[in-house]
Amino acid sequence: MSKRIRKAVFPVAGLGTRFLPATKTVPKEMLPIVDKPLIQYAVDEAIEAGCDTLIFVTNRYKHAVADYFDKAYELEQKLEKSGKHEQLALVREILPPHVRAVFVTQAEALGLGHAVLCARPVVGDEPFAVLLPDDLIWSRGAGVLSQMADIAEQTGASVIATEDVPAEQTGSYGIVATEAFSGRSGRVTAIVEKPSPDTAPSTLAVVGRYILSPKIFDLLEKTRAGTGGEIQLTDGISALMENDPVTAYRFQGSRFDCGTHLGLIEATIRYALDHETLSVAARELMVNTLSELGIREDP
Ligand code: UTP
Repeated sequence: MSKRIRKAVFPVAGLGTRFLPATKTVPKEMLPIVDKPLIQYAVDEAIEAGCDTLIFVTNRYKHAVADYFDKAYELEQKLEKSGKHEQLALVREILPPHVRAVFVTQAEALGLGHAVLCARPVVGDEPFAVLLPDDLIWSRGAGVLSQMADIAEQTGASVIATEDVPAEQTGSYGIVATEAFSGRSGRVTAIVEKPSPDTAPSTLAVVGRYILSPKIFDLLEKTRAGTGGEIQLTDGISALMENDPVTAYRFQGSRFDCGTHLGLIEATIRYALDHETLSVAARELMVNTLSELGIREDP
């Protein structure tokens, strides 16, 4: 598996129940962080890593994701006529010309493992990436998927992004046990979905970026519903590990769990404070708001 990955899968068929009522009509992946929807950040990261085929696993209610990546003739014409060239460029540059978007449907939300399996006919027999857009990862240098693609190319192994979490949070993640790390990478020896802190093999949690061997598809076909009654990607990776190397990679960057309210707020603050044109005003606004509310830092 030493080829550079070209295909990226975005499983976006979940129900997003934690963001109801907003997600009754707006998919979670379309929620904005400052000036772009979450899905755009993940897509940009995949393109930066060298992917040219983006596979969206959606459900029949999520037209907004497909519409977002489709051409908007009427809007473009109106912007052109009214001389709004900057806005026109923003709309036209959502996807570069060499990149194609493919949509597959997951008829029923049977779990992340099942969603990835739905992409099989488009991925075929080559290593591929999986990105969960609600894990937004901010990084000053190369994006996380690009960091992982380098490791996958060098080692030929599947690579999963990991980070240390507080012990009391293991029940919210897939947790791995590994051999000793060399630099940022270590071979995975076990992976468990959402273990309680007393049974977790470590506190190293899997986050939403994976580079996987296509061998995982046959294994996912055989995977039965696991934790939460869902077909778990974790169980497929666990089966893959039996015959194939899987590397845990401690990425460089800061992750925001935008599947939760606080994570979305935290990401909005970080991206606003780091924004090219909005950072100064955003900072002022935050300071003023805190002072208006009488909130001060502890001395
Ligand atoms: P989550 O566990 O965050 O579930 O899925 P969710 O449905 O999106 O959100 P909540 O928990 O109800 O608020 C993790 C990722 O896997 C995708 C989701 O779209 C999300 O990107 N997923 C999950 C699917 O595509 N299909 C599924 O059957 C389950």
